[in-house]
This record gives sequence, C-alpha cells and structure tokens, in this order.
Amino acid sequence: MTEPEICEKLQTVLKPGRYRHTLGVADTAQKLAQRYGADPGKARLAGLLHDCGKEASDALGHAEAGARLAQEIYGVSDPEILSAIRFHTTGKPGMSLLEKILFVADYIEPGRSQAPRLPFLRQLAFQDLDQAVLEISEDTLAYLKEKRVFIDPRTQETRDYYRENRGSGQSKA
Ligand SMILES: [Fe+2]
Ligand SMILES: [Fe+2]
Repeated sequence: MTEPEICEKLQTVLKPGRYRHTLGVADTAQKLAQRYGADPGKARLAGLLHDCGKEASDALGHAEAGARLAQEIYGVSDPEILSAIRFHTTGKPGMSLLEKILFVADYIEPGRSQAPRLPFLRQLAFQDLDQAVLEISEDTLAYLKEKRVFIDPRTQETRDYYRENRGSGQSKA
C-alpha cells in the first residue's frame, strides 16, 4: 500500500484522535530517524501503522495485534518494521535503532500533553536516544504503579536493561 492508501484505511478504523496521534508519531519517528541515521521511510511507516491494532483488541494486546495487521492488511513484510510495532508499548532489552525510535516517538509526539516532563523528554530524545528510552520507561512504570494496573514484565526488563547500559553512548551521534 502507498502512504495515501494506508492513511485512507487508517481513517476508517481509528478514532480521529488516534489518527492524529498516528500522524504525530509518524512525523516524529521520521525526524528521529534523520537525526540518528535510520531509514526515515521505514520509521515513518512504522509510525503510521504502530497503533493500527488499537481498536481491534484490548490495550494490552494492541501492539501484537498491530504487527499482525500491518502484515496481513497493510502488506508490510519488513521484519524490522513489524518488530518495532510489536514492541512499541513495552520496549524490550537491546532494541534496534528503529525499535527505539518508535518507542520514543510514541511517547513524545506533539499531540501528547498528559505525561509529565514532556518538554525535557522531547529535547532529550534528540540528544541521547538510549537515555530517552530509559527515562520514558521509568515514567511509564511510575504511572502504571500509581494506577495499580497490570505491568507487563517486559516494561520492567526494558527499564532494567537501559539503566544498566546507560552511558554506553551507542546512540549518541
Ligand atoms: Fe500503541
Ligand atoms: Fe501510539
């Protein structure tokens, strides 16, 4: 599918607010890819499709559902893109550059306003991507704990991994 075809389809399955969020994530992912030397087209596509499973499943399963739908409905076969979609909510230890970009873009896109520390995180994302992943997983865990809802163990594993591997400088350009 071309981007206009994907957008047309997304507008029929996503609520308007979710569609706007999707465009914000696509733009942000593209910019982060340009900043860190990832493929901007792949990052944009991952951003466009990252929540395509949102209305099709419960919140916990939407990333997994999204990866499946991206493949089956939107014709994406690139394993890097599908994996970025699959892990966009929880992250995972040792993420690829594209996975980190989508994880961060989802949190900081311009339409977001609820999360604390957004101005700081938006700046940090373009300075040190690994540190941004760490800070975002810390904030996500704190939020989920406060809400007393189920925490996917992978969210904790992501935080632990990026805490242990901080300052390795891998993603600083
Ligand atoms: Fe999502
Ligand atoms: Fe999202």
